[in-house]
Amino acid sequence: MSKKAKLQNIFLTGGAGFIGSHVAILLVKKYPDYNIVVYDKLDYCACLENLNEVMDLPNFKFVKGDIFSSDLVTNVFKENKIDTVLHFAAQTHVDNSFGNSFAFTQSNIYGTHVLLECAKNCSTMRRFIHVSTDEVYGEGEDFDAKPMDEEHVLEPTNPYAATKAGAEFLVKSYHRSFKLPVIITRGNNVYGPHQFPEKLIPKFINQILRGLPVTIHGDGLNTRNFLFVEDVARAFDCILHKGEVGKIYNIGGCNELPNIEVAKSLIKILGKESEMDDYISYVPDRKFNDLRYTITSEKLHSLGWKEEISFEDGLRKTVEWYNTYIHRYGNIDSALIAHPRMTGSGGAEATSPTNL
Ligand SMILES: *[C@@H]1O[C@H](CO)[C@@H](O)[C@H](O)[C@H]1NC(C)=O
Repeated sequence: MSKKAKLQNIFLTGGAGFIGSHVAILLVKKYPDYNIVVYDKLDYCACLENLNEVMDLPNFKFVKGDIFSSDLVTNVFKENKIDTVLHFAAQTHVDNSFGNSFAFTQSNIYGTHVLLECAKNCSTMRRFIHVSTDEVYGEGEDFDAKPMDEEHVLEPTNPYAATKAGAEFLVKSYHRSFKLPVIITRGNNVYGPHQFPEKLIPKFINQILRGLPVTIHGDGLNTRNFLFVEDVARAFDCILHKGEVGKIYNIGGCNELPNIEVAKSLIKILGKESEMDDYISYVPDRKFNDLRYTITSEKLHSLGWKEEISFEDGLRKTVEWYNTYIHRYGNIDSALIAHPRMTGSGGAEATSPTNL
């Protein structure tokens, strides 16, 4: 392995959002001699309170900014002698990408390009960790198919996943052309505290907490693999310190479950088991809904990471958190509808939660 780069001044984009905030908190607390600069534009799915635990610590700094702004990014790089980028900022919700998907191209491709260009120009840069997704692989063929490793061909099936794949190619090209020391990660579905309730698990929890039925797309048999966010944060700690430049790492768990099973578990945890049928509502499927994604994380295991939190424990912790911080994201009515289109124009008209 190449000699260890000294990584100390970390620029973390999207750090007020879901996964980014957990990674920022872990790094700030665990490494008091590192400086963590969270850079976030505080879009609808981010919230500064997600960083409350570290806000007052001396090695933490927050800068409100957009990744499109190369001047501001470059200034922050210089001022803080940034040597590491962890790039979490992205538009991530597949449902939205069936609506106004231009916002996805802008944030995920153009935004990543700006950051790469700034990183290329920054003489102190030692690592650029780009956060991608298992969705870039496209749909797993069937339930007997072999799990996909990092060499698997990329065949994204929705506009969101296509923009993430596009961004990955840009990242790779900066490695090839300019020797930018990049690492790419491709993660499973992540769940846990701080997640904006447009995503399946927090959406179901918030629907049940309001006495609304959970909205299952299609027959509910599509599976996803869910990984608890604290396990994911430890995966990034591991990759940051032990990952090899130029490599790609899948970050996956072993909780592949059909959506309907996830819904039933949550209905039970929230004590509504006796009203199970009333709490389940089937809605039309997405235009295209991948059957499953199955990845192997052997490469990451070989760096010493493993999943530690069981799905049951993770779900309980998550439910507890939403019970306590139900107002974290303000008014979330429009996120709880069956097919939300948070980024506006071009999508199906919104249905109010009462007409589900
Ligand atoms: C990077 O440096 C080049 C050459 O100095 C310059 O033309 C370009 O604008 C810089 N890019 C950014 C994003 O600052």
